[in-house]
Amino acid sequence: MRIAAVSDIHVLPNGSDELLLTKIKERVEEIDPDVFVIAGDISDRLDVLSDALSKLQAKSCENLFVSGNHDIWFEEQEGPGSLEKYSRIIGEVCKRNGFSHIPDAPIVLEDYAFIGSIGWYDYSFKRDELNIPMKNYEQKEYQGAIWYDLLRLDWEFSDREATDLFNRKIEYDLKTLPEDCKYVIYVSHHLPFQDLTIYKNKLPWDFHGAFMGATSTGHIIKSDERILLSVSGHSHVRNMVTYENLVALTVPVGYGRPEPRHLEDFVKDAIAIIDLDEKDVKIHDFVRGDLSAGLPFASSRN
Ligand SMILES: [Fe+2]
Ligand SMILES: [Fe+2]
Repeated sequence: MRIAAVSDIHVLPNGSDELLLTKIKERVEEIDPDVFVIAGDISDRLDVLSDALSKLQAKSCENLFVSGNHDIWFEEQEGPGSLEKYSRIIGEVCKRNGFSHIPDAPIVLEDYAFIGSIGWYDYSFKRDELNIPMKNYEQKEYQGAIWYDLLRLDWEFSDREATDLFNRKIEYDLKTLPEDCKYVIYVSHHLPFQDLTIYKNKLPWDFHGAFMGATSTGHIIKSDERILLSVSGHSHVRNMVTYENLVALTVPVGYGRPEPRHLEDFVKDAIAIIDLDEKDVKIHDFVRGDLSAGLPFASSRN
């Protein structure tokens, strides 16, 4: 089972990322995987998401998508809300463009099942030594720095309720997989493991670390022995950790864009290649760190 994985492409709505999308698709087809997964954050605009997925859909493999927080941001007051986007509309957009939105339903391919969730955060990744009051996390603001879900998300759940809801859906998906399914791959946007989070001993970066994921989700993932691999996005710093029977990685592109002549190398670094041979997980030439470091990025990107 060969998997190609990427996340956080954050496609600009002005068409300037067209070549990037083409190069990603070409690279995926060159990798020739059984499954291509995208772990969220393409665009808050459904038309941009739809157009990007149509360009990214790779031939001769399963194409899987998991929404990110940016994908479920509402566009305007009268448009669809975050929960409607996550639970229905993005699934329809995926279907129209040859992708499966696996938070809606897992995909089973022979011995392997792919389950997906946006995941969420419950501030369990916060750094206690910062001594930031809990209300700042709940209000997503500290010393003028805000976490943008505050302004662009309109469901009525608290973050702890959202984390709990998505955790319960993951447990449900795991429980209802076909009995003969031997191995599971978990694809999420938010991080299931704090070890994947990069802290920099500076603010507001480390305040924002609290919005990366939830340890309760990681407990669920670690406690199911069928799960061999966890692929996430959201953090724009690529990382990989290995536990006893599980490899977890983040595969973001991020906001930066190289000069056109460096685009192919950039895309090569961005797409992770994972080979699963029964229980054996092999990651090829994984590139860690922030691919966007030192590159220009557009301020209009969101
Ligand atoms: Fe992102
Ligand atoms: Fe994100």
